[in-house]
Amino acid sequence: MADGGAIAPDMTLRQAAAAAGQALRAAGIEDGVLDAGLLLAHVIGGDRLTLICDADRRLDDAQARKFTELVAARSARKPVSRLLGRREFWSLELSISGAVLDPRPDSETAVAAALEQMPRVDGAYRIADFGTGSGCLLLALLTERPGAWGLGLDRSLAAIQLAKRNARDLNLSERSIFMVGDWGRALVGQFDMIVANPPYIATTDIAGLAPEVRCHDPRRALDGGADGLAAYRALVPDLRRMLNPAGHAVLECGHEQAADLAEILETAGLRVEGFHADLSGVQRCVRVAVAS
Ligand SMILES: C[S@@+](CC[C@H](N)C(=O)[O-])C[C@H]1O[C@@H](n2cnc3c(N)ncnc32)[C@H](O)[C@@H]1O
Repeated sequence: MADGGAIAPDMTLRQAAAAAGQALRAAGIEDGVLDAGLLLAHVIGGDRLTLICDADRRLDDAQARKFTELVAARSARKPVSRLLGRREFWSLELSISGAVLDPRPDSETAVAAALEQMPRVDGAYRIADFGTGSGCLLLALLTERPGAWGLGLDRSLAAIQLAKRNARDLNLSERSIFMVGDWGRALVGQFDMIVANPPYIATTDIAGLAPEVRCHDPRRALDGGADGLAAYRALVPDLRRMLNPAGHAVLECGHEQAADLAEILETAGLRVEGFHADLSGVQRCVRVAVAS
């Protein structure tokens, strides 16, 4: 039933959700019931509470057709966020597209670590986000620090266009600027906070990733070269020049990469201040300052 074909126009929301949940579970999607609810809520223009409170409402033809298409696409392992074109990150509603990484909850660790170093809520911090993608890290920081200013930079023009749209939707355009660039190479000036979540998957590991990631996140957002650390080696040498003497940088990294990243940072003349674990206990970020 990977084509979602069991969903009929006259089904109630309860029946349609159950049929789709079953189809998704049968296609090997563990959270099939949850995903079915999210997709159905999207189709009827409501939320998951509507599915409970209005469970006997019947789907019309167009809704049944749309839901069938979405369930088939999810069965083929397209992530729900990509089907809906949006993702919640740090409680912000962000648009996503095929040009950007689907923001991960783990990356909220970088936001929390950066905020600790920007204690004044109204501080006029200057923030840079390298490899901004959807703009998620920068936009979360600007939301929490209403006096701050930010630059988001990415190698992908399509990513920059999407990040700008997210900034506009969140009313953050007046405190943010987005530009295409190759890490910090063409940048002058200094920042109080630099955040970066560069691609860090070793090239040969990409083939083994879940289809939701391998087939839908852009290669440029994943591929960290032979050992996964190539982007750090390219980015880190410019960090020292771009950090103001009292500034800090927070870099996200992958499972078991924190020690290697710390070495790259120290070799570039930065002082490692600490490591930040995500909710599963993985050392997810390294925090550095300019060495004194
Ligand atoms: C892992 S994604 C992170 C996206 C976003 N910051 C997030 O946390 O969801 C890495 C990003 O780095 C960008 N990137 C890759 N190489 C780059 C380069 N040489 N210069 C700038 N950005 C680059 C990719 O286009 C991608 O958007």
